[in-house]
Amino acid sequence: MDDLSKEVISCTKCKLCKSRTHAVPGEGNIHSDIMFVGEAPGENEDKKGIPFCGASGNFLEKMLESINMKRTDVYITNIVKCRPPGNRDPEEEEIESCKEYLERQIDFIKPKAICTLGRYSLHYFYPEFVISKVHGKIYSYKKIKIIPLYHPAVGLYRDSMKKVLLDDFKIIKEAISQNLTTQQKEDASSPPKQGSFDLFS
Ligand code: URA
Ligand code: SF4
Repeated sequence: MDDLSKEVISCTKCKLCKSRTHAVPGEGNIHSDIMFVGEAPGENEDKKGIPFCGASGNFLEKMLESINMKRTDVYITNIVKCRPPGNRDPEEEEIESCKEYLERQIDFIKPKAICTLGRYSLHYFYPEFVISKVHGKIYSYKKIKIIPLYHPAVGLYRDSMKKVLLDDFKIIKEAISQNLTTQQKEDASSPPKQGSFDLFS
């Protein structure tokens, strides 16, 4: 994993390498059962080279605390590892260039569950899914459970969304303990819809 992080830090595979201060490979427990995958580094992350180290990161840590976990218990990374200028959305080409790193991270960590944070991360795994319909449920492909969550940023300024996120977080522990209700098991065993998941196929 250290080698992979070094490769990311010196990567020049897409144009985001020109505007970044630091690439942000990811950090956390490489033996964890849980990975969090956000969208892309923001301003703070670009300055420090650490994922989710600003306001969204603080809220992510609070949500983890609510389920008795710390950020050092999980592995945290993003779909693209370098900050898009002005926090614009990552482009298709950039996501495609950066994909290899995420695939290798997943392959290395072999998590039981991947929590996607926000639309871009969700669409990486399930391009046709609509976040408002699937958040807080469990899907799976091969042996990895995918748990779509809203991006922590949406909870920062809206209390109603904060509550939704905190509620959704409760499912993470259940997902890794296998302590699921029948409905949750059905969701988890339903195959992804067509064209949705080529990462491991
Ligand atoms: N938002 C993200 O999606 N990722 C980060 O690392 C920080 C903010
Ligand atoms: Fe390389 Fe990914 Fe950074 Fe592009 S975003 S330069 S592919 S590490």
